[in-house]
Amino acid sequence: MTLQEKIADLRTRALETLPKIADEKTLNDFRISVLGKKGELTDILKGMKDLSNEERPKLGALANEFRDEITGLLECKKSEIEAAIIAKKLENETLDVTLPGKKVAKGNRHILTQTTEEIEDIFLGMGYQIVDGYEVETDYYNFERMNLPKDHPARDMQDTFYITSDILLRTHTSPVQARTMDAHDFTKGPLKMISPGRVYRRDTDDATHSHQFHQIEGLVVDNNIAMSDLKGTLDTLVKKMFGAERKIRLRPSYFPFTEPSVEADISCFKCGGKGCNVCKMTGWIEVLGAGMVHPNVLEMAGIDSTKYSGFAFGLGQERIAMLRYGINDIRGFYLGDTRMSEQFK
Ligand code: PHE
Repeated sequence: MTLQEKIADLRTRALETLPKIADEKTLNDFRISVLGKKGELTDILKGMKDLSNEERPKLGALANEFRDEITGLLECKKSEIEAAIIAKKLENETLDVTLPGKKVAKGNRHILTQTTEEIEDIFLGMGYQIVDGYEVETDYYNFERMNLPKDHPARDMQDTFYITSDILLRTHTSPVQARTMDAHDFTKGPLKMISPGRVYRRDTDDATHSHQFHQIEGLVVDNNIAMSDLKGTLDTLVKKMFGAERKIRLRPSYFPFTEPSVEADISCFKCGGKGCNVCKMTGWIEVLGAGMVHPNVLEMAGIDSTKYSGFAFGLGQERIAMLRYGINDIRGFYLGDTRMSEQFK
């Protein structure tokens, strides 16, 4: 074979092999074996020294042509392989936007919180301030300032958890009455507040009793506050919460810190007053305790009971939520079972 023929032969083989190469490593090995320092072309060109002066440049030109051709093809092949790699990668990373997404579990506020906020909104609309009290209270504020001296028999109804003989878990939100009266500056206007919060009693838990529950205290103190103000306020509350058709009924009751004291009933929102299982056939549902602030309670706060008067009320969020949503076990509020809370989204 002449050198020309050898180059032609190498070209034929190269053109045959190239299209079959599919990865960079093989391509590189191929380049080295054909065009490399120790490759076949170099080997062929070693024979140049035996050529005549005329033929040598011709073979040189042929070799260059061959080198350029193969180099060009190698470049193309390289881009082809790279493009294939990218295409493969893209294919593997494809997002199927039609696949259903992962659901993010979304929580919701506890039904007692929702009830509390709803009542807060109603009273904010009537110009009340919302006050926080202490769950850990003193005997003084929880009982004595509420006109329940040490040996008062009504203390029996509100036994609680004692931390010391003077510090206890509050049995009602009423101590906030005394605390806000102490702090209020009456030259700046009337005292109108509600105070929601948790309260405690020494009770054995069952479907209708819980050793902890929630109350909202309400208090208004000003000149000339009368029973009619209390009734009008409660009327507004129940109509906003239970519907415009609801009526309110006050029954005489007893609390040491109010005089007179009442229990407030609303006309049954389920049967409208005819009698059903919710109202126990009476047509009325008891929702809260209330009354005119006892003069002793005003005086203990340094308020002149001959010039000022007030009304107070206390309602329980659990009871309201149980009535409204037909919840029949108070313990459901505290067990943290999401099947309970999810119903009130
Ligand atoms: N503190 C009373 C209770 O827990 C409720 C109440 C509050 C009654 C204010 C009258 C006035 O039962």
